[in-house]
Amino acid sequence: MLKKMKKKRRQKLLAIALSAGVIVTGFQLESVFAASNKSNQIVEGSKAKEKSETPKLVNAASIDAVIKAMALEEKAELVVGVGMPGFPGGPTLEVAGAVGGTHGIPRLGIPSLLVADGPAGLRIRPIREGESQTYYTTAFPIATSLASTFDTKMAEKVGRAQGNEVKEYGIDIFLAPALNIHRDPLNGRNFEYYSEDPLVAGKITAAVVNGVESNGVGATIKHFAANNQETNRTTIDTIVSERALREIYLRGFETAVKESQPWSVMSSYNKLNGIPASQNGDLLTKILREDWGFGGFVMTDWFAGTDPVEQMKAGNDLIMPGFPQHSTKIVEAVKNGTLDETILDRNVKKILQIIVESPSFKNFEYSDAPDLEVHTQVARQAAAEGMVLFKNENKALPLKEGAKVGLFGNTQIETIKGGTGSGDVNSAYTISIADGLENAGIQLHQGMYSSYKSYISTLRQMDEYKIKDSPWGADFGKLTPVIPEKPLEAKEIDRAVSESDMGVILIGRNSGESADRKNEKGDYLLTDVEQEMIANVSEKYHTAGKKVAVVLNIGGPVDVASWRDKVDSILLAWQPGQEAGHAVADVLTGAVNPSGKLSTTFPITYSDAPSAENFPGTPKENPTQVVYEEDIYVGYRYYTTFDVNTAYEFGYGLSYTNFKYSNVRVSNNGNFKNKLTVFATVENTGDIAGKEAVQVYVSAPDGKLEKPEVELKAFAKTKELRPGKKENLKFELNTKDLASFNEKLSAWVVEKGTYNVKVGASSENIKGIATFKVDKDIIVEKVNDVLEPKVEIDRLSKFDK
Ligand code: BGC
Repeated sequence: MLKKMKKKRRQKLLAIALSAGVIVTGFQLESVFAASNKSNQIVEGSKAKEKSETPKLVNAASIDAVIKAMALEEKAELVVGVGMPGFPGGPTLEVAGAVGGTHGIPRLGIPSLLVADGPAGLRIRPIREGESQTYYTTAFPIATSLASTFDTKMAEKVGRAQGNEVKEYGIDIFLAPALNIHRDPLNGRNFEYYSEDPLVAGKITAAVVNGVESNGVGATIKHFAANNQETNRTTIDTIVSERALREIYLRGFETAVKESQPWSVMSSYNKLNGIPASQNGDLLTKILREDWGFGGFVMTDWFAGTDPVEQMKAGNDLIMPGFPQHSTKIVEAVKNGTLDETILDRNVKKILQIIVESPSFKNFEYSDAPDLEVHTQVARQAAAEGMVLFKNENKALPLKEGAKVGLFGNTQIETIKGGTGSGDVNSAYTISIADGLENAGIQLHQGMYSSYKSYISTLRQMDEYKIKDSPWGADFGKLTPVIPEKPLEAKEIDRAVSESDMGVILIGRNSGESADRKNEKGDYLLTDVEQEMIANVSEKYHTAGKKVAVVLNIGGPVDVASWRDKVDSILLAWQPGQEAGHAVADVLTGAVNPSGKLSTTFPITYSDAPSAENFPGTPKENPTQVVYEEDIYVGYRYYTTFDVNTAYEFGYGLSYTNFKYSNVRVSNNGNFKNKLTVFATVENTGDIAGKEAVQVYVSAPDGKLEKPEVELKAFAKTKELRPGKKENLKFELNTKDLASFNEKLSAWVVEKGTYNVKVGASSENIKGIATFKVDKDIIVEKVNDVLEPKVEIDRLSKFDK
């Protein structure tokens, strides 16, 4: 047992000495501010106002007095972070691998805070020079996988475990969860985000935030807003209508703010309708604070924005990670009258209000010993529950007990736990799919297994394929060059077929921060070798009367339509975190009955995606602007309205058992009076226990506003139902749930007419319909009339189809 280390919290900022002109690679910074060593010192009372008795920050009630006692320079220090650790001459933070913090002002009793990444788990440095103790954290399944559980209780449980690691490793604020919408299947960071649907994104986020913050640490919802691509992410101008913003891109954030009140929001890199998000007062003050009542503070994304004074005015309280020049500019602006000091005071107050809640302020003595064993079990459970069974002909799965399996595909050895970049997690291990299956008692075909093992270890010796530290530094995980899929000889497949009961093929993909994916072979498309592997392995097993399953170890959609008919079963395992192999084995063996549903559509071809024509923007080679012409028709809202077939639709996912839906009805005889209850009964009619994620869609009538064919309005997962058991479900809908955004009125409106409530197993598989009527238009909520695009948008309309 490791001796628990108790540490005294000391001043976290140990050194700040940025040398001039450091080039911050990896963050696509256009410019880096020249820094002088001198200007980079903390103001510790030197310029402070002389006072006989200096007030101290002791609780929330003392904040105003402390602000009064602060020198202008101190205020300007507080609203700018401590600089980026890890760069030459950069600061050293108390917790290695934290990506920043705030300045402490000891004379006023203001401690510094530390922040560190997520979202798949806390990312800190696991090994520290000269120490035998390790600081590994748990790699949970990626966000898209967590959302595919359709289970807010599971999301909260994951959040609780993550927050415990944040707290026990000495961090104050977790830079997660992230909830940008899956606008396009090729966004390289989609794995960090939940869904194409704002309800799923918002509800899962709120649950994670509540879980994290139940530990007394903060969560940060990011990246606010409309940051839906990595190509030119720091400069791109996102042009989007007010309605699409309110209904799609902001809606999840709104839900999360109202249902979980996160400590912090991270503004995004991109411009939003012409103005950088971090300098966008309409977004950060008018909408976030005035319309939604957000009470925490806003921080920038790392090095985002162009003008610190504009950031202050917009309500972006904290500039991260910040340079001293930012503080200098803010001081100058107050002195020359271009920035009102009361604005600075407002921002300082927002930060102090959170500081008084933080572990650092409370002198929490962290243990450096979170309960990793318990969190491992949470990660495994969540991963298995997020897996989506696409196909299972003739009940090819689950594997029979003690089955002999021929495993094909590189990913059996080098299983992918999660994506790369700031969302990577430095976990102690990743259980490979091969090891997971063996641990579950499945007999792997040894010849096949050892041939993959030696193929991979041979290639990994070669310079081209050596695993290195991330180009952003070791704290950001590993750079693992992709090894081409091992070509298979007919003979070796034959041998495996004759010596095993079933074939399981793995297909793996990864992506990460700073680059989008490509609609090319090896990325969205399968390579020729992968296609041959699927074709040949399937043909040979089938000739021998045996079955074949494919397991997808991926972070976002790939082409499935071109090969899916060749195999019996397909399991979408996502990138399942460090317990990957165990979780895959749980589902393949039937220890866990799959209950995940797709939180994002798998189209037939990439070009079917409504955003494909406008991704990543114009000009194509080096876009400066991206116009969201598909408007509100994102994901299934598009496919269902425009009758475009998908490979696997939003909400889709099979089980090893069957469910019957009945008794779908609404309250009050279908007369809508400000709220409505939807009822449904779900029965397990198969022969093994299982859970079902039930979805409530609404088809609203077209009025002044056109409506998508269906929109998800509620969802819930049943408890585990034994065969023959039923559960009665109840969903409450209120006016806001049903409302659409009317730009002319700047209001959420429920339009009169007949509404169909569709309870289903997916967006296309509706099991029961009930109807209700709304007699007259209801104006639910008037909001600020802001964020109108300055560029004409050729908006997609269903009336033009
Ligand atoms: C990412 C953020 C992250 C930050 C700190 C940025 O590049 O966009 O999501 O929290 O870096 O690592």
